Amino acid sequence: MLIAGNWKMNTDLPDGTALAENIAAGIDDADVDFSAVDFAVCPPSVHLQALNEALDGSPVALGAQDVHAEEEGAFTSDVSASMLTSVGCTHVILGHSERRQYYDETDADVNAKAHQAHAHKLVPIICVGEMLDQRKAGDATSVVQAQLEGALEGLSVDSADELVIAYEPVWAIGTGESATPAQAQDMHAVIRDDLADRYGADVAAGIPIVYGGSMKPWNAEELLSEDDVDGGLIGSASLEAESFLGIAEEAVGVLEGAAG
Ligand code: 13P
Repeated sequence: MLIAGNWKMNTDLPDGTALAENIAAGIDDADVDFSAVDFAVCPPSVHLQALNEALDGSPVALGAQDVHAEEEGAFTSDVSASMLTSVGCTHVILGHSERRQYYDETDADVNAKAHQAHAHKLVPIICVGEMLDQRKAGDATSVVQAQLEGALEGLSVDSADELVIAYEPVWAIGTGESATPAQAQDMHAVIRDDLADRYGADVAAGIPIVYGGSMKPWNAEELLSEDDVDGGLIGSASLEAESFLGIAEEAVGVLEGAAG
């Protein structure tokens, strides 16, 4: 189970550092055994270096929210893959719907960035998800399949730890209205099938397919209980250590239930 926080453009450096420290301390001090949970936080890029230090020795992986597809050069404001790895990043979110919506990022862009991430041994967390009108028109599945087709073209994945897919229905992001567990499971199963066709059933079975969109401590259990929901990519509830770890506690409960 992967519990990842996408902080988006939130927190200044002191607040972000405190949040990371609180998360690390919360994992350390908890009565709950979090060892079966993989954690990641994806703060704003200006925080990465400080958080690499703040999270040193903790089980929390560090991720960025985007990367440029080129190695280096005249791309004002952009951040390269080697910059990210040099400050301790192991993951990078790609193709978030906010990048697609506000910066016209295309599947081809996401694909180029995914190749670049892999070239630098960064695990891409590739976001897919339909808009509300697409769901209402009955097109949700084909939209997500097309996004996968575009984003994963030519990307070789030999083991399950080289890729994460985040299903984030756009209508559920920041709205307080998450997908139902059944809606999430249905789409995650579609994604799993797609990955199995590309990478084989064994690899696909282990690739984390996480859900994002208004995941909170109170709805996490039912979402995470679904067979193909392997964790969460959490926005606003990741901005407080208590709610972020509250979701992780639900993940532990689900894992223990499944094992027991
Ligand atoms: P919220 O959890 O705030 O809905 O955001 C989800 C998201 O976009 C994570 O990438």
